[in-house]
Amino acid sequence: MSGARLDVGPVDSFEEGSLTRVEVDGHELVVVHQDGEFFAVPDRCTHAKKPLHDGELEDGKIRCIYHGATFDLRSGKATLPAIKPLACYATAVEDGRVVVTPNA
Ligand code: FES
Repeated sequence: MSGARLDVGPVDSFEEGSLTRVEVDGHELVVVHQDGEFFAVPDRCTHAKKPLHDGELEDGKIRCIYHGATFDLRSGKATLPAIKPLACYATAVEDGRVVVTPNA
C-alpha cells in the first residue's frame, strides 16, 4: 500500500481543533485539524500501542492519555515514555476533501 492516496473525507467533517479517528482501506489514522492545517498520523501510540484517537490535542502535538507521551504533529518527535517517533503522513486538500498519503 506504499504511496496510496487516501480520501479521508470532506474538509467540513473535521472541525477546527479536532482529532478524528478514520479508517480507510485498512489504514487506521488520526486526522487532526489545528490552526487551519491538517495532520495525519497512525492511530497507534509508539509506546504501548494504545489508540491515539483517545488522546488530547496540544499546540502542535498530540498527547497519548494512557501514559502521557506527546508526539509532534510535524516531526513525529516523541517525549517519554515513548521513544520511537510517530509517523507523520502528508496531507492535502483537494476539491474540498482531505487526502492523506501514508508512508510519504
Ligand atoms: S501507550 Fe501511549 S504513552 Fe503509553
